[in-house]
Amino acid sequence: MNLSDIIYDSFMLPLETFVLKKKRKTMFKNIEGNILEIGAGTGTNLGFYDFDMISSYTVVDRRVLEKIRKFDFPKDKKIKFINSSVEFLCFEDDTFDSIVFTLVFCSVDDPLKGLNEVKRVLKPGGRIYFMEHVMPEHSILKNLFNRLNSSWNKLANGCNLNRETADMIRDAGFEIETLERFFGAFIVGRAIVKQ
Ligand SMILES: C[S@@+](CC[C@H](N)C(=O)[O-])C[C@H]1O[C@@H](n2cnc3c(N)ncnc32)[C@H](O)[C@@H]1O
Repeated sequence: MNLSDIIYDSFMLPLETFVLKKKRKTMFKNIEGNILEIGAGTGTNLGFYDFDMISSYTVVDRRVLEKIRKFDFPKDKKIKFINSSVEFLCFEDDTFDSIVFTLVFCSVDDPLKGLNEVKRVLKPGGRIYFMEHVMPEHSILKNLFNRLNSSWNKLANGCNLNRETADMIRDAGFEIETLERFFGAFIVGRAIVKQ
């Protein structure tokens, strides 16, 4: 991990400990089959998977970290790491049973293109599992987040504070099955391709 990854983990630690950890625990309960995780970052999600329910695990990230590559994955599972962007996935159509992303689409350059790629490589009947920070609902906070966004974006490696990611998931052709908003500006949920 480089310095910016260490700073990221330290910055996230209180939020992770008191808010996100509990949500991740619930979110990861039923994830099974051939898994694709987009933007695994420093590997926060790795401890939450039930590898007994998983046939294969593939990570796509703009930069897959050594910490992920060195994780103690079960030896009998097929594990793959790919340095790539979600907007250009190198898989056949209908490859994965479950696709996971957490705190990723805030910083994807072309989120709709990325979500369309996610849809393309998801098997029919497969599901996406997501947790993202998004634009808050309250008008005063909305205004504040819009004002802060351009400075935050430069400071935080292209991250945006004001994305409406649930709307983008719907726009890409998914039907959201569960969606919970929490801590003002976070969502967690599950979606399937709309028939
Ligand atoms: C804020 S970190 C989140 C890490 C982890 N998923 C978590 O929940 O803590 C965002 C991750 O998404 C990756 N990422 C951002 N844009 C991406 C893109 N277009 N394609 C693939 N990965 C991307 C970044 O490299 C980084 O690893």
